[in-house]
Amino acid sequence: MTEPGINVVALISGRGSNLQAIIDQAQSGNLPITLCAVISDNANAAGLERARKAGIPALVIEPKSHDSKINFEQALIKHIDDYQPDLVVLAGFMRILTKEFVQHYTGRLINVHPSLLPAYPGLNTHARALADNASWHGATVHFVTPEVDAGPVIIQAAVPVKKTDTTKTLAARVLEQEHRIYPMAIRWIAQKRLQILGNKVLLDGKQREEQGLIKPDLTPTPYPQ
Ligand code: GRF
Repeated sequence: MTEPGINVVALISGRGSNLQAIIDQAQSGNLPITLCAVISDNANAAGLERARKAGIPALVIEPKSHDSKINFEQALIKHIDDYQPDLVVLAGFMRILTKEFVQHYTGRLINVHPSLLPAYPGLNTHARALADNASWHGATVHFVTPEVDAGPVIIQAAVPVKKTDTTKTLAARVLEQEHRIYPMAIRWIAQKRLQILGNKVLLDGKQREEQGLIKPDLTPTPYPQ
């Protein structure tokens, strides 16, 4: 990579497989970003080791070391902003952020969620899709707004739900898509190809097929076929 790309800080809480997908793409030269730091709210997050292995500063900022949520978030903001990020990536960060935090990063905070939003915001998405006998499930990358899992959608990927699926098999099929679409969304941002218009995200000036957006009146196309 000749160009250094945009500065990215990632926030994690656990396993860090999405973080790994981003690291892998960046290391192979497919993602014009500099991963400046990985910050975890959990000292035991396996993703911290993934960051260290890749030579990325790995920090721990735990809520229990702060006397209020506001102070915890202020500490988080201070450490994130030390790196002057163009983009803050939530990669399995299991914490609901306040409106103040989210607004501090308006337009430069993104998240990956394991459902086809607006279906199944919140937790236990795979179990809920199975309980509903949903035919389709999937993953969404979106800009973060104060309302949880409701920000403008950048890209989605649908997977078929099989009769034999358990939460484990379905989660694995969805996760594979998260690993594909999260780096893709970050690449578009790094290439400055996205524009937020209300609650829509335009790619090169309009909503495009590559974004895989699920419209309520359309049957989604699974990826890969
Ligand atoms: C992913 O399923 C993501 O969609 C959700 O949390 C999980 C994180 O997994 N927000 P990992 O830590 O990236 O492996």
